[in-house]
Amino acid sequence: MKTCVICGKILNLTMKILENQSLKKRNTFGIDATAKYFTEFSSIENIHEILSDARYFTLNKLILGGGSNLLFTKNFDGIVLKNNLKGIELINEDAEYYYVRSAAGEAWHSFVMYCIENNFAGLENLSLIPGNVGASPMQNIGAYGVELKDHFYELEAYHIADKTIHTFNNSDCKFGYRESVFKRELKNQYIIISVTFRLLKKPKLNTSYGAIEKELEAMNVKEINIQAISKAVCNIRSSKLPNPAEIGNAGSFFKNPEVVKGKYEFLKISYPEIVGYELENGNVKLAAGWLIEQCGWKGKTIGDAGVHKLQALVLVNYGNAKGTEIFDLSQQILDSVKAKFGVELEREVNII
Ligand code: FAD
Ligand code: EPU
Repeated sequence: MKTCVICGKILNLTMKILENQSLKKRNTFGIDATAKYFTEFSSIENIHEILSDARYFTLNKLILGGGSNLLFTKNFDGIVLKNNLKGIELINEDAEYYYVRSAAGEAWHSFVMYCIENNFAGLENLSLIPGNVGASPMQNIGAYGVELKDHFYELEAYHIADKTIHTFNNSDCKFGYRESVFKRELKNQYIIISVTFRLLKKPKLNTSYGAIEKELEAMNVKEINIQAISKAVCNIRSSKLPNPAEIGNAGSFFKNPEVVKGKYEFLKISYPEIVGYELENGNVKLAAGWLIEQCGWKGKTIGDAGVHKLQALVLVNYGNAKGTEIFDLSQQILDSVKAKFGVELEREVNII
């Protein structure tokens, strides 16, 4: 039996709270950081219970999914709440759509596979992205011509301060490129507990990202369907992104920067090979991987921290790099891209 340090009330916590817990296996960079306190929640009651305990309520909190978009630069001096909410449900359907709700602790790729097996179309281009469903709206995950927001319907999130559940629709989330309200104005205020997707009964196949068509051809696919697209995306991803189980990383470390068209045209005079894609707003998105490669970083290492040899946008931990070493490397990359191209990169990975 424990007593609340503030009000003296007797508490009967059913959850296991671990102290000074290693997070090395809980972040895909494999950084050896610790959490002062660590617990896992598998129900709303669990969340409520832990947040109603004054000993933990006042601490800094980190909601942890698969740890695939985090860089620990120090030990976490608070409580890590590992999301273990499970369950997938078809909650509704109409003439055009299936409405599928997933609890936040489901693994993203398994959820995508479930949708593909059931012919719920839309998420196939987002196959093989690591992490949990609950983190997917945080940065509006995207890949191969599709973003989460294209098929998102709504989410439920637990408000940490007032301990109530709020529903957010697509516009409430203020999704942008690797952005949402949860990374900005509402940072650290909510725990996402479930996400509902609106998935197509009649697939709209998206092979606009050039590499997909090439891969489908190489696979000798006769009939293109969501299964084939998912397989093609998995093949492309496996061929160029390092597997975190083998080399620590968190995917793209930086966002692809957006510049005004004039700046792009100016850069093109000196660098005719520069890679950029025109956006609907008239600006141009530059390939950060290309900029970093041109600065000579591709394949470089400083100690155990490095820049991946096939994808310069991915920073890697070859063994025992510290979070600060990866961070310092990222700063050197930022500085050199700024010096050479006058372009400011922004980190995509959440720095803790
Ligand atoms: P975590 O790393 O655990 O958390 C990320 C952030 O979200 C943290 O701030 C955390 O506190 C917060 N958070 C997590 N869960 C919740 C919750 N339930 N409620 C509130 N806050 C929460 N991303 C892409 O967009 N596209 C890609 O193609 C892509 N490819 C990748 C490839 C590799 C090899 C790797 C390692 C990463 C890649 N990523 C990609 C990044 C990453 O997979 C995604 O950002 C993913 O959604 C992170 O999920 P996670 O559960 O691991 O989040
Ligand atoms: N490039 C280089 N050198 C490199 C890497 C890339 O020149 O070392 C150039 C190539 O010309 C290539 C272009 O950059 O054609 C784009 O590269 P790629 O197709 O690999 O995609 P990316 O822009 O580097 C983005 C996302 C990925 C996502 C892929 C596929 C961001 C920050 N990254 O990468 O997302 O999987 O497109 O859609 O937008 C992530 O967010 O973690 C992530 C992996």
